[in-house]
Amino acid sequence: MTPLQQAIRQLKLEKDAVILAHYYQEEAIQEVADFIGDSLALAQQAKRCTQSIIVFAGVHFMAETAKILNPEKKVLLPDLNAGCSLADSCPQDTFADFIARHPGHVVVTYINCSAEIKALSDYVCTSSNAATIIGSIPKDQPIIFAPDRNLGKYLNTITGRNMLLWDGSCVVHEAFSFDKLMELHRQHPGAQIIAHPESETHILETASYIGSTAGMINYVKKSPHDKFIIATEAGILYKMQLQVPHKTLIPAPAVEDNTCACSECAYMKVNTLQKLHDCLLHETPEVTIAEGLRHRALQPVERMLQLS
Ligand code: 13P
Ligand code: SF4
Repeated sequence: MTPLQQAIRQLKLEKDAVILAHYYQEEAIQEVADFIGDSLALAQQAKRCTQSIIVFAGVHFMAETAKILNPEKKVLLPDLNAGCSLADSCPQDTFADFIARHPGHVVVTYINCSAEIKALSDYVCTSSNAATIIGSIPKDQPIIFAPDRNLGKYLNTITGRNMLLWDGSCVVHEAFSFDKLMELHRQHPGAQIIAHPESETHILETASYIGSTAGMINYVKKSPHDKFIIATEAGILYKMQLQVPHKTLIPAPAVEDNTCACSECAYMKVNTLQKLHDCLLHETPEVTIAEGLRHRALQPVERMLQLS
């Protein structure tokens, strides 16, 4: 443990704070976190935690979800610039207009969106529970699904629905190169490809398993195979490798990989250990939401948690 990590641990105790981290955070941050999880587990944990300060080592929509669930707590994000391309691909006004142009639809949104978009939704979901949430809606009920078109397409395939899809995407999961992936697979013919459903259809079609970050870790743990090519953000490899020290994990290659052999989310990596320390020390930057908006966004999030 480095002196900076020790200082964070000390501050956590002094300030009655908890650190929740996503699997895509850098290793040094995951090491000081009290809880590491996928989007669903983090939302569930945010609802459960008793500390008066939540430090969210993740991106803005995750910290915002924690605030939606905990209006009385202080929610801190190490850097407010930790955004998300998927959330950005769904602006409030255009989405409200889209809903108005398609009356009679139930609106299901992926948790990777702003509080304003959640407030326009009937249900929120994550990649862990999307099929269950959609399955709870009567079969003849038309559905709008936003913002991720790749996840939406995948869900249409596995649920047999024909949801109307918003045209958003994640820059990280769209960066995988099919040709490089196939070349890598030729070099490691015994490896199983596993993928996050934010990836494009031609990548998903190569995968032996498709699931959320937590789902992928569980799959690798339980699988009899010992070599995997992992098509999601590379931060997941830290926790995954700890769980399966004797298995070989190979990150799926991105189209442009001059600086890195794999895909990294620049938004997630905006957070650093130093920023985490400083935000705990100064109790800023804080994520806040107007109470009316929070209240409207809470209902679809609560519906998701009840169904999960
Ligand atoms: P999950 O952790 O829910 O699988 O989501 C992945 C992701 O892209 C988070 O931004
Ligand atoms: Fe958003 Fe993609 Fe980064 Fe997840 S990996 S936070 S969906 S940009």
